[in-house]
Amino acid sequence: MNGQWQLISRPVGMVKESDFGYVEEPVPDIGDNELLIRNLYFAFEPAMRGWITDAKSYIAPVQLGEVMRASTVGQVIESNNPDFKPGDFVTGMAGWQEYFITDGSAGLMGRGASKIPDGIAPELMMSALGGTGLTAYFGMLDIGKPKTGDVVVVSGAAGATGSVAGQIAKIKGASKVVGIAGGSEKCRWLTSELGYDAAIDYKSENVAKRLRQECPDGINIFFDNVGGQILDDALLNMAMNGRVVLCGGISSYNELELPPGPKNYMQLVIQRCTMEGFILIDYLDRAEEAVNDLSSWIQSGQLKHAEDIQEGIENTPKTFLRLFEGKNIGKQLLKIAEPPL
Ligand SMILES: NC(=O)c1ccc[n+]([C@@H]2O[C@H](COP(=O)([O-])OP(=O)(O)OC[C@H]3O[C@@H](n4cnc5c(N)ncnc54)[C@H](OP(=O)(O)O)[C@@H]3O)[C@@H](O)[C@H]2O)c1
Repeated sequence: MNGQWQLISRPVGMVKESDFGYVEEPVPDIGDNELLIRNLYFAFEPAMRGWITDAKSYIAPVQLGEVMRASTVGQVIESNNPDFKPGDFVTGMAGWQEYFITDGSAGLMGRGASKIPDGIAPELMMSALGGTGLTAYFGMLDIGKPKTGDVVVVSGAAGATGSVAGQIAKIKGASKVVGIAGGSEKCRWLTSELGYDAAIDYKSENVAKRLRQECPDGINIFFDNVGGQILDDALLNMAMNGRVVLCGGISSYNELELPPGPKNYMQLVIQRCTMEGFILIDYLDRAEEAVNDLSSWIQSGQLKHAEDIQEGIENTPKTFLRLFEGKNIGKQLLKIAEPPL
């Protein structure tokens, strides 16, 4: 049987475990050119909160009664497709289910399968070498355009994207990288393990004041994962010609009413700054370039990565909620099976 978590109600405000329902269905036989994949890991992204909202976005919403969309790593256990053999590890968007049948064609957000090259750990393919690593790479390099000596601030800094983004800035010669994260444990991790120069605990400190202290000459790049008050605090502290990289705004993803826009946006005028959003899918044709750079930085020890791995398919919605509770350090994953072959 194929255990699946389906979307059963559209969340109102904070997403709840009860917005998803568990069902089991027989695993169908595979057809010509198809392969059967046993999923091993689910990856969790805050953007999934947007995918279950019936609102216009960059991707169609998940429908009620549909398996929840999610990126996955699995292993091929049966194949009628000459490009895949049993034992191959694959990534895809197979969703919250144990088994998945595809012909392997890996559409953009489609539900295909891409082979994981030999020697790369499946977890890494979902974190620093996966969507969030690539997001940090293109957001920081293409939008932030770091230069030697820049002062860089990253919000959501202890998460999957933020933890990589700050390290990339450092690799590219930033003179100071400051992270903003929730709680002393995350802040300690940023400075003691990841090479951040300073960290601000937004849950217990005055962010605007600390940014003024840490960045007396202003912020050259603000890489924002959070939005809301933290974005406003950073805008007040931008340096001349600074760049604000809008990666995400998790602080409002579960809000019933969107907060008013940033109060301090006139600082963009006064300081001649740019503020630009981006979506990773526009950069996927350059994925190889990012994976090559990120891999070589990992191998040389310049880039550290972390995965928070929970276990058991029964814990799927609970693990999703960890993102909004700030429980994850690094990439949030759920392991649902050992490699079967
Ligand atoms: N533009 C793109 O193409 C793209 C692609 C991927 C991700 N993103 C965006 O990047 C951001 C990070 O995503 P991720 O996958 O790397 O997730 P993540 O940072 O690993 O996990 C989410 C983190 O957000 C923080 N958070 C939760 N609620 C918050 C709130 N109300 N205020 C402030 N912080 C809050 C929590 O950390 P704390 O403990 O620090 O609060 C939590 O650990 C998200 O905004 C996501 O939508 C954008």
